Amino acid sequence: MIKLFEWAESFVAPAELELQRPFIETAHQLLEQGTGAGHEFLGWLHLPSEFDLVELERIKRAGQKIAKQADVLVVIGIGGSYLGARAALHLLQHSFHDFLPSSKRSLQVVFAGHQMSATYLAELLEILDEHEVAVNVISKSGTTTEPALAFRVIKQYMEQRYGTAEAANRIYATTDATRGALRQLATEVLYETFVIPDDVGGRFSVLTPVGLLPLAAAGIDIEALLAGAKRAEQELADPDVHKNPAYAYAALRQILRNKGKTVELFVSYEPGLHYVGEWWKQLFGESEGKDGKGLYPASADFSTDLHSLGQFVQDGARVLLETVVKIKHPRKTIQIESLPHDVDGLNYLANRSFASVNDTALEATILAHGTGGVPTIGLEVEDMTELSLGYLFYFFEKAVAMSAYLQGVNPFDQPGVEMYKSNMFAMLGKPGYEKTRVER
Ligand code: PA5
Repeated sequence: MIKLFEWAESFVAPAELELQRPFIETAHQLLEQGTGAGHEFLGWLHLPSEFDLVELERIKRAGQKIAKQADVLVVIGIGGSYLGARAALHLLQHSFHDFLPSSKRSLQVVFAGHQMSATYLAELLEILDEHEVAVNVISKSGTTTEPALAFRVIKQYMEQRYGTAEAANRIYATTDATRGALRQLATEVLYETFVIPDDVGGRFSVLTPVGLLPLAAAGIDIEALLAGAKRAEQELADPDVHKNPAYAYAALRQILRNKGKTVELFVSYEPGLHYVGEWWKQLFGESEGKDGKGLYPASADFSTDLHSLGQFVQDGARVLLETVVKIKHPRKTIQIESLPHDVDGLNYLANRSFASVNDTALEATILAHGTGGVPTIGLEVEDMTELSLGYLFYFFEKAVAMSAYLQGVNPFDQPGVEMYKSNMFAMLGKPGYEKTRVER
């Protein structure tokens, strides 16, 4: 269901890929047998095929309840606790969903707790008064500062507006099964809760209640999303690099990294994929960027950004590789018509579709960037449906696990995100951080 339509052929010889074969087979065994670094976080690997169906029904029921009680759902979370849902909504919903007549749209999902802007939060509170509101607060640790701060404010808003009992009826907590401040609070005030499994890290959690509950509330077909991921789980279980595009993608990235391509640009020609790029950046950046190694994950929306970043990609520092995600069948088509007076000079495109022009831009860009020394890896996704997106999520999860093992790092930890936190806590005077030395 995902086709590798570009292999960076002029940059990587078939023999180089062949040389990766034994390493891929070894890393595959580490993953399948659960014996590699970080093996305690392999819960995502068979999650689609082993999903607890009773829990799935409970998520769907809660989603329906939210959709009945609210027309705005505030999703509070950061990093892996919000990017997956945001990516899915952005791709799967109508491009102008919030402007559709109410009969044609589902509830609106707004995000909070993914930064600490007072302006953003205060202005969010301003608009909530006009709506019926529900809240899904998501934090695996239950202690992350950004969502915890936002939740403190929004919880107070909900309690003042609805009263304590009704606020509790409208607040849903997704967190660890037993640990953390959020779990403790949810138990005390009786929120409905959903569990982020211990063995699934934040950036791998989109197919757990973290992603599924807000998506279900927004009317997304979460069963189809899981079905797509399940299909990927089955199809991407082959250790043969020529039969497993996720492993081929992983190997190509590592070969190109060894050739000095240290920045990977996630590129799409459909704006709906913008937040898939954001999700992908966390997945790859946190999984691989460690021990002084890794490809820096960046993203761009083409052809928009060809008019801003295009110069650099074509001609700037030669550190880039491009991963293009192409949608084979976009959700909508527009046919270009011939006009009697060809004032804009575009009649030469008559009878072509926008999609075919967009695809030509893609092909032309791959050629141009290749000539400029930027290799492209091309991934073709069937369409913009739940099934295809579920497949794509799993594809990247499997690819990053393989790629990190090939690179020789633990894919599942993120020691590097702690330092800013301990500096910040020390500077803010958080109890317990008195002795932390802040370097300037
Ligand atoms: O990948 C990770 O673990 C992090 O980026 C987390 O997703 C992020 O920090 C949010 O953490 P939590 O869900 O514990 O609030």
